[in-house]
Amino acid sequence: MKISVILAHPKSGSFNHALAARIVKTLQQPGHEVFFHDLYAEQFAPVLPEQELAKGSSLPPEIKRYCDEILASDGIVIIHPNWWGQPPAILKGWVDRVLKQGIVYEFRQGVGVGMLKARAIVINTSNTPEKDELEMYGDPLETLWKRCIFGLCGVKHVVRRNLTSVIMSSGEQRKAWLDEVEKLARSEFPASS
Ligand SMILES: Cc1cc2nc3c(=O)[nH]c(=O)nc-3n(C[C@H](O)[C@H](O)[C@H](O)COP(=O)(O)O)c2cc1C
Repeated sequence: MKISVILAHPKSGSFNHALAARIVKTLQQPGHEVFFHDLYAEQFAPVLPEQELAKGSSLPPEIKRYCDEILASDGIVIIHPNWWGQPPAILKGWVDRVLKQGIVYEFRQGVGVGMLKARAIVINTSNTPEKDELEMYGDPLETLWKRCIFGLCGVKHVVRRNLTSVIMSSGEQRKAWLDEVEKLARSEFPASS
């Protein structure tokens, strides 16, 4: 399988990086082809410029490559911290520039049609307890990824895990979370598919 792994966290030694490293290693073991992007390390430029706004506009080669990879992917894994109930701006910009109308979704007679064939995993880290995130804020990342973004792009199967509270967690808890995401990656993207 071809699998895109997209990481958005500015600090190279972060827990998010540890999660991404474990997932990439897990996916590479059975021979999946992994397209790994650490958006901060790559200095991804998140601002959608006017020239790319129109449907069918020509894209810079680096953006075209991201689009080609995501279209070819059987699996997508997104890893990012919860920042104000949203992804870090660099990842929002990746969504704006890569998940483009005419490439990953289309409107036909006013109805959105998704072109992605992938299934997806979204891993978030946060500090707010899960119950508070849901009751106080409505867990906006759940709606954003499952409905607003992947829903429109045709990704019907999305498993999201919100790991919280990172700030209160012990080393043992973080180790258990790493084992958990490894198991999740293995079960969603098994060797034989
Ligand atoms: C700009 C910013 C905004 C944040 N907003 C939230 C938030 O809305 N909810 C929350 O639970 N944690 C929030 N956090 C905490 C991060 O989610 C937390 O530091 C991160 O998930 C921990 O993962 P790490 O150890 O890999 O950095 C925020 C952190 C930053 C820097």
